[in-house]
Amino acid sequence: MNIEERKRQAACSAAKLIKDGDVVGLGTGSTVYYLILEISKMLKQGLDIICIPTSIATKLLAIEHGIKVSSLDECSEIDIAIDGADQIDERLNLIKGGGGAHTREKIIASCAKRFVAIADSTKYSKTLNMPIPIEVLPFARAFVEKRLLSLGGKPKIRIAKKKAGPVITDNGNLILDANFGEIENPAELEREINSIPGVIENGIFSGMVNEVHLGTKNGVKILKPG
Ligand code: A5P
Repeated sequence: MNIEERKRQAACSAAKLIKDGDVVGLGTGSTVYYLILEISKMLKQGLDIICIPTSIATKLLAIEHGIKVSSLDECSEIDIAIDGADQIDERLNLIKGGGGAHTREKIIASCAKRFVAIADSTKYSKTLNMPIPIEVLPFARAFVEKRLLSLGGKPKIRIAKKKAGPVITDNGNLILDANFGEIENPAELEREINSIPGVIENGIFSGMVNEVHLGTKNGVKILKPG
């Protein structure tokens, strides 16, 4: 089964958890794309839900597929949030932010009664070891870089692909991708990075997920913490 099909199956499996009347947090990325397609089908079969998107990209895609969107100002209680991940360790800590949307994603996941990650099995790793996306206030970039170096990280500013210069997030900030090698204690590193003045949010999601729907070559595996 190819990667796209694994993503699609993971997304469809998680979509089954959505109930009529739910407020649903909608993540960002290529796996969530399949979730949006599935929700759009479910709406045609009579499902009635409201979605809170985690990015401008997801908001536009949701609207294009006939999904009712709202914001945290209108609905601060989310029944279920479903989102992709860049890496998942065996204790179900996540790294997110490959699309630069992790700040809003973490807020939405924190508001949700249930937070479900969807991914294909290439995202699963014994320990987290990818560079961590860190959203940073432009004013504080040089200072934050120094602090990250002193924490043992190697930060690099994220450069845009079809725009000259750096990526600017939906919140008007910069992204630093900081390589810390193997991350033995994700919860501690998550706290340490967020305690640097000028850091808005980092992409480690430790101990947040209620379940992971992982698309494997043999179908979807549902993983739960503990
Ligand atoms: C967006 O910033 C990210 O957190 C995504 O949720 C994450 O990068 C997963 O994206 P894919 O489903 O495209 O791999």
